[in-house]
Amino acid sequence: MNFFNKDTKTAFEAISYAQFIAFAPIVFQATKSLRDLGILALVESAGTKGITLKEIYTQLNLSEYGARVLLEAGLGIGLVIKNDEKYTITKTGVFILNDKMTTVNLDFTHDVCYQGLFTLTDSIKQGKPTGLKTLGNWPTVYEGLAHLPKHIQDSWFAFDHYYSDGSFGQALAELFKRKPKHILDIGGNTGKFTLKCMNYNPDVKVTILDLPGQLAMAKENVAKTPFVERVNYFPINILDESQKFPKGADAIWMSQFLDCFSEDEIVSILKRCHEAIADDGHIYIMETFWDRQKFEPAAFSLQMTSLYFTNIANGNSQMYDSAVFNHLIDKAGFNIVEQIDNIGISHTVQVCKKK
Ligand SMILES: C[S@@+](CC[C@H](N)C(=O)[O-])C[C@H]1O[C@@H](n2cnc3c(N)ncnc32)[C@H](O)[C@@H]1O
Repeated sequence: MNFFNKDTKTAFEAISYAQFIAFAPIVFQATKSLRDLGILALVESAGTKGITLKEIYTQLNLSEYGARVLLEAGLGIGLVIKNDEKYTITKTGVFILNDKMTTVNLDFTHDVCYQGLFTLTDSIKQGKPTGLKTLGNWPTVYEGLAHLPKHIQDSWFAFDHYYSDGSFGQALAELFKRKPKHILDIGGNTGKFTLKCMNYNPDVKVTILDLPGQLAMAKENVAKTPFVERVNYFPINILDESQKFPKGADAIWMSQFLDCFSEDEIVSILKRCHEAIADDGHIYIMETFWDRQKFEPAAFSLQMTSLYFTNIANGNSQMYDSAVFNHLIDKAGFNIVEQIDNIGISHTVQVCKKK
């Protein structure tokens, strides 16, 4: 669906929206404060009766000034409305407070991206994740993932898992349609999908490929289950092209993985998949393509997430347009034999075979 081929706003809507953008960081921080200080929750709990400024700052032990400036900002942002000196919550306020996807996105934006994005222009000019230094001193975020401060790591994993977890059920059915015996889970992270495979099929073996820090977390998680014998680990920095993949698997699974790499890197990874996979084997790629979304806010979220890759993650990858991505699959020597959209919230599974 193409949401981006028309300028639909009137001039008045456009200048209004431009102000929303101009003040966007303040809108964001005010919203977070209204949530984190308990103001939105208190206004919501007052229901349609509403609640006065004085009741709010007294009950939350805030200054009158502090509660007032935030609530006035909340009016402008559209999180609350005011009638007869009483505040009530809006639908947007309810989503900010209660919607899991919104919470995951907001916390990820704040904890992982917010400070770094101050240098986005530098990232574009230099092709480097210049914002990453706000989190730590690593070449890419992936080397740092296992060492991030707890609350930042929690926000990163909550964001990552929210989107992939919702897709795993349907994706498993697709993967096991062709009865794989040995799967490589490349970028297998903390072992979540591998464990789902273990539960889904009593015989399948999985080898997880990832950086050593993530593999240690996966190993710890698998050790708590009865599946220790069927899971193997292959530590790898996939950016080192001399590192080949283990051979003999009849399926390769890559979920939310290839978007962590540039176009040339993706071709290199897929070529190594080509060498490793059995001739009649299949590669399963699960990605979120912004051009394959049913709803405009989903495409928007992915377009914004791309800039996390630009500024924080690695400086050269993104949530791809499927036309750009499909060209890379072709270049690496694969055909897409099946493509299933609308898996989970926003994923597409591509099933590929050697040409
Ligand atoms: C966005 S996560 C996806 C995790 C999981 N597959 C999922 O769907 O939730 C990307 C994974 O790729 C791994 N990764 C990133 N760069 C890597 C590299 N250079 N070598 C090996 N693994 C890497 C990360 O450690 C992480 O586990």
